[in-house]
Amino acid sequence: MSELIQSLEGWVDYRDRVLASGQPIGLVATMGALHEGHLELIRRARTETDCVVVSVFLNPTQFNDPKDLERYPKTLGVDLSLATEAGANVIFAPSRDSLYPDNFSYKVAETVLSSNLEGEHRPGHFEGVLTVVMKLLNLVRPTRAYFGEKDYQQLKLIEGMARAFFLGVEIVPVATVREADGLALSSRNVHLTAEGRKMAPEFHRSLKQTTTIEEVRRDLEDKGFTVEYVEEVGQRRLGAVVLENVRLIDNVPI
Ligand code: PAF
Repeated sequence: MSELIQSLEGWVDYRDRVLASGQPIGLVATMGALHEGHLELIRRARTETDCVVVSVFLNPTQFNDPKDLERYPKTLGVDLSLATEAGANVIFAPSRDSLYPDNFSYKVAETVLSSNLEGEHRPGHFEGVLTVVMKLLNLVRPTRAYFGEKDYQQLKLIEGMARAFFLGVEIVPVATVREADGLALSSRNVHLTAEGRKMAPEFHRSLKQTTTIEEVRRDLEDKGFTVEYVEEVGQRRLGAVVLENVRLIDNVPI
């Protein structure tokens, strides 16, 4: 089983030993409730770095909806076994107080890329994400950090932050992992009923259609999704919808 470290002191001690031995660290940052998408990131890190660290931290500052935070699945025991099987050396699961000694009075903010799409619909979300990722990168000191393309805007913002602050870490993008029917894996999918689960892949199917974004929006609404946005930015079409109170996001190349 991978080692589980929950204290900051324990982590810093472990990390310093790894760095002193000259082993490059690979970081997979998660909020727990691991699924195949996370395991793919861990497997990729395993092939490219000597010490694979999976952080498990349900970051409260990135949830603009307290109900969403409350019902986010919490499965540390299972996460530990899954991460171990996928090749993690260590799980770093710090407490909220240890990661936010400042009570979130210091924040990392981005003011251009983050103002639309997810940023527009989830006020404050990206400040929470960038702040916690900055903290994790500073604590873990990885050579490479792995992020999924499913959260495409998040990925672009983290890449930008690493460049803007000269963080000296390589941000490695990893393709979205999907169910056989096309639904992007997400920890929130478990909240769908059997009926919702059957309908959910239509989101990806509609996004992929080579019609206009207006037609995609209409198609999704006709199928019973509430559409938050469908937009094209650069070479990507991105969308967010709500089905049965479950918020789904996805994106496809165009
Ligand atoms: O993508 C996620 O799971 C989270 O936003 C992250 C990057 C772990 C930060 O809490």
